[in-house]
Amino acid sequence: MTPTVHSTPEPIAPRVTHQVTMPRATHPVTHPATHPVTHPVTHLATDLATHDTALGLATALREGTRDAHRDAERGPFVHALIRGQLARATYLDYLRALETIYAALEASLARHADHPIVGPLARPELLRRPAIARDLATLGAATQPPVAAARAYADRLHTLADHHPALLVAHAYTRYLGDLSGGQLLRRGAARTLGTGPEGPGLEFYDFPEIADPGAYKRELRACLDALPVDAATAAAIVDEARRAFTDTASVFAALAASE
Ligand code: HEM
Repeated sequence: MTPTVHSTPEPIAPRVTHQVTMPRATHPVTHPATHPVTHPVTHLATDLATHDTALGLATALREGTRDAHRDAERGPFVHALIRGQLARATYLDYLRALETIYAALEASLARHADHPIVGPLARPELLRRPAIARDLATLGAATQPPVAAARAYADRLHTLADHHPALLVAHAYTRYLGDLSGGQLLRRGAARTLGTGPEGPGLEFYDFPEIADPGAYKRELRACLDALPVDAATAAAIVDEARRAFTDTASVFAALAASE
């Protein structure tokens, strides 16, 4: 599939004010036992030690999740979503899962809005939960519990908010940069599934009305990531957590695909 939006990786934002030299691997990459990773995980810290490279956090996140991203693009759920082949009921389950995840993420970000690392990513223009709630209402979706994998993802976010708030950055990165990038491609498939035009109704999740230029916004967001006051160990932990964000998302997709 050839993405029609943002198909060329953007240059790293020029306003890098903070660079992170990643340490040698001191922490194992852990993935939930319930969904073993089937792709080779590039261990970023090891790579960086090998190449002796200093990267900003934004680049470290992109490189560290490259394999996970490739898998996410290829999975059967996303495949069906893009082609508009999901059942309407499954799409509504997908929205319920997203609402659960974003409710946890956005409450956690708001709770830590004054945190020096988390605060810069607690941005009202990115909020997705209100849009998802409106989509569910517009589509007449009955209130139902989300798939268990979405609740597990939300629990993880609450745990981070309680004990490791800096790692919330990984989830803000994975969700919001994803939504602003390839997520826009998913909109067409969603429209097809819902039997509507590209403007909806029921597609507010894909709209960022306060962001006029998503490309410029993403460059600024990457510069913001690079400027966060993180030490090398925290940066490495954030990259590991971002890999987990992808695998936790994959678990949600697998649960939804299984329910088709
Ligand atoms: C068919 C599905 C997908 C497609 C076609 C797709 C496509 C893309 C494209 C083209 C970009 C590059 C944007 C740019 O450089 O400006 C991108 C970036 C990104 N995507 Fe996806 N994506 C998909 C699924 C996902 C999923 C499921 C997630 C995570 C849950 C995700 C997370 C991200 C993130 C975090 C970035 C930013 C990477 C970076 O520059 O650091 N994507 N995506």
